[in-house]
Amino acid sequence: MPRHFLNLDDINVDILKSILKHAHELKAQKFEPPQILRGHTLAMIFDKRSTRTRISFEVGMKQLGGHTVILNMDDIQLSGAESLEDTANVLSRYVDAIMIRMSDHEVLSEFASHCSVPVINGMTDLSHPCQIMADILTIEEKLGNIAGKKVAWFGDYNNVTKTFEQAAPLFDFELVISAPEDIYADAAAPMDAAKDADVIVTDTWVSMGQEGKGIDKFRPFSVTPEIMAAAKDEAIFMHCMPIHENEEVSPAVLKTPACVIYDEAENRLHAQKAILAWCLEEAGVNVAAE
Ligand code: CP
Ligand code: NVA
Repeated sequence: MPRHFLNLDDINVDILKSILKHAHELKAQKFEPPQILRGHTLAMIFDKRSTRTRISFEVGMKQLGGHTVILNMDDIQLSGAESLEDTANVLSRYVDAIMIRMSDHEVLSEFASHCSVPVINGMTDLSHPCQIMADILTIEEKLGNIAGKKVAWFGDYNNVTKTFEQAAPLFDFELVISAPEDIYADAAAPMDAAKDADVIVTDTWVSMGQEGKGIDKFRPFSVTPEIMAAAKDEAIFMHCMPIHENEEVSPAVLKTPACVIYDEAENRLHAQKAILAWCLEEAGVNVAAE
């Protein structure tokens, strides 16, 4: 079976750690990246908007010598009558790996089951594994290690939260979720969640595809300077972006040195280069190249 990257908890933690180690090395080599993906092509299929995922995968492939083909779902025959199976088989003959962003994780998994090349989850309604790999890379850079840290999540209980839930037992960190009780039964009160946290993290209250939903119940879970003050002195603020200012986070929090959102966004690039190298190792990519 090809090396798919669909969910963090599908993959052995030692492999995830080796991908992160490689990501740190690739970041250190960012001005002279090894050409380990020369001759390889990544197709990217988007059924939703994207800035970071699209650009970081495209630039990452090119930095390592590879190529990309970007496909909007509406423009390919899959959005008409063509089957998942035929699309998977045909794409597998043209490209070396496929990244997809779509809502339904089951459909993504079924598509991957028909592919003979690696498939990478570029975000579904269930999970966003590339984002959390970049987030762990960022936490390791800023705080040295993620094991034993307290990560406090605020706001919605969504695809990004669920991926942190997958990561917590694998990477041995404490995840505390502060969210409205009707969407997360074991939620902590905001100040309890923030107390002594190493990482304060949030995301939009209205994920793509949920436009029009009410947001008033999320307001008590907004990340404010008071929330940051309850965390450890060296705590960092993270957000996968895009941000809705004055909703899930106060503008004042974004202006403090604790805010590491642009490092986090940059780290999508380096984490994904290492993910691509792992996915393509069996296709001849030398992950140890200097
Ligand atoms: N964080 C993230 O996935 O951003 P995009 O939606 O811009 O890709
Ligand atoms: N939870 C958000 C993340 C965007 C990167 C969404 O699904 O829209």
